[in-house]
Amino acid sequence: MHIVLTPLTLAPFSYAKLTFNEHNEPTNLDFNDVYFSDAGGFEETKHVFIAGNNLKERFSTNDYKDFVILETGFGTGSNLITLMNFTQSLAKKPKHISFLSFELMPLSKDDFFKAHKFTPFNKEAQKVINAYTVASLKSGLNIIPIDKNFTLYLIIGDIVTTIKAIDSKLSDKVDAVFLDGFAPKQNEAMWSVEVFKALHDLLTPEASLATFSVARMVREHLQACNFTLQKRPGFGRKREMLVAYPIF
Ligand SMILES: C[S@@+](CC[C@H](N)C(=O)[O-])C[C@H]1O[C@@H](n2cnc3c(N)ncnc32)[C@H](O)[C@@H]1O
Repeated sequence: MHIVLTPLTLAPFSYAKLTFNEHNEPTNLDFNDVYFSDAGGFEETKHVFIAGNNLKERFSTNDYKDFVILETGFGTGSNLITLMNFTQSLAKKPKHISFLSFELMPLSKDDFFKAHKFTPFNKEAQKVINAYTVASLKSGLNIIPIDKNFTLYLIIGDIVTTIKAIDSKLSDKVDAVFLDGFAPKQNEAMWSVEVFKALHDLLTPEASLATFSVARMVREHLQACNFTLQKRPGFGRKREMLVAYPIF
């Protein structure tokens, strides 16, 4: 993907404080929330983000050279790892996937490794862990090659500032969005009108967005930014999830 950011002055970042809760799930101490659930977190990614964005159908009916996915909240990279594993089984897929993700407080290399002690997709997890641990992470844009089919574009800093720095006229547009902040009440910035407005400017007309949250605030903010919403059955104990499409 071609991506152009306007010059930004960002403060040096702090690493996340990682712990494991009573269910052994990797948890962020500042937000007091889990990165992903060990009870089906990978299945949840497939249900909410991969199926929510109809990736299998879209990949099988289009010849994508470079498919761009934008994720809010890189965390442990588990969505990326699950996506890589999912594409293995497909007869037809994009030549390349650019995974553009935002992160306020990245995990340290040691913690990134620890967060994957129970990850089932060894081959893909190892590739992402290796790429993450050799990268010299800095505030702003980090381009991290994973393999010939995947590149991670990791933007470190507060998404409220960094997403607005992407020049939507000079950058390649985004085909699908994984909205994956911490719970909206604890992480309001990630679900703000400011972020959704900038996000809308980055999308192709065919783009879709999926998220686990159907919180009223999330729905209202998406609608205020010209998205049309669709509720779908949620994963596990969550009754509903949300899919959205930009209106132009
Ligand atoms: C639910 S976790 C994401 C899980 C992740 N997708 C994974 O696969 O592990 C939410 C992430 O959003 C990040 N985050 C929270 N507020 C942010 C902000 N204002 N800007 C950028 N990232 C933020 C957190 O640090 C955390 O890594």
